Amino acid sequence: MTVHFIGAGPGAADLLTIRGRDLIARCPVCLYAGSLVPAGVLAHCPKDARIVDTAPLSLDDIIAEILAAHDAGLDVARLHSGDLSIWSAVGEQTRRLRALGIPYDMTPGVPAFAAAASALGRELTLPEVAQSLVLTRTSGRASAMPERETLATFARSGATLAIHLSIHVLAKVVEELTPFYGPDCPVALVYRASWPDETLVRSTLRDIEARAAEAPMERTALILVGPSLGAEDFRESALYDAGYDRRFRPRGDV
Ligand SMILES: C[S@@+](CC[C@H](N)C(=O)[O-])C[C@H]1O[C@@H](n2cnc3c(N)ncnc32)[C@H](O)[C@@H]1O
Repeated sequence: MTVHFIGAGPGAADLLTIRGRDLIARCPVCLYAGSLVPAGVLAHCPKDARIVDTAPLSLDDIIAEILAAHDAGLDVARLHSGDLSIWSAVGEQTRRLRALGIPYDMTPGVPAFAAAASALGRELTLPEVAQSLVLTRTSGRASAMPERETLATFARSGATLAIHLSIHVLAKVVEELTPFYGPDCPVALVYRASWPDETLVRSTLRDIEARAAEAPMERTALILVGPSLGAEDFRESALYDAGYDRRFRPRGDV
């Protein structure tokens, strides 16, 4: 018996890995993390599977479900939205499983920031503009930020920021970032990337609050900030430069 943690992707049911789909189809028990896991992903469960929405459950309840499956020798598909490696609460579950000696594995999923970048049709790292992407959030009711991880700390680098779980404090985000990026810095809000009601708002730090008021968004939205969101005059990457010698496309004259 194994618990298969699976990243269920950002929303669209076809943004699920083939490995994830096949595991879901094989598992007689499926535990999924609430409304952010799309119905189209759950449709891969076997017809007679036990399918449990864990949104109203405590960690103890979830572990009790897993223990019951373990005692019955039934594999479990454990679904979380996006990818498992960020803000999925998988860490506390796997710690319990390690303590209980219950085997598990993990299958990655498409994270929301990647779906948001695709929705915008943008690369978030551009030569000499930004070569780093910071995945971060602001303090919430359930989790305070470690003191060192302020927006200002990350903003000082000028990297592209993908700010999660923070659309409700957009004004504060704008106030904290403007001294570092300047009021003309591009910002994009991406609401429910890849869902049928996906909404995009593109603006600058100066105007984003006014623009956001025209298309109110709650909860499932990302704030992307940084020059890479608007840059057009960046240098082309050396990778496809005809004069650049590399292993798979040797120039032959060197
Ligand atoms: C608890 S975190 C989950 C992150 C997820 N594990 C991932 O890999 O993207 C939830 C936050 O992710 C962002 N998010 C999740 N799905 C999204 C989507 N489809 N579109 C935009 N933002 C999304 C929002 O900022 C939301 O508040």
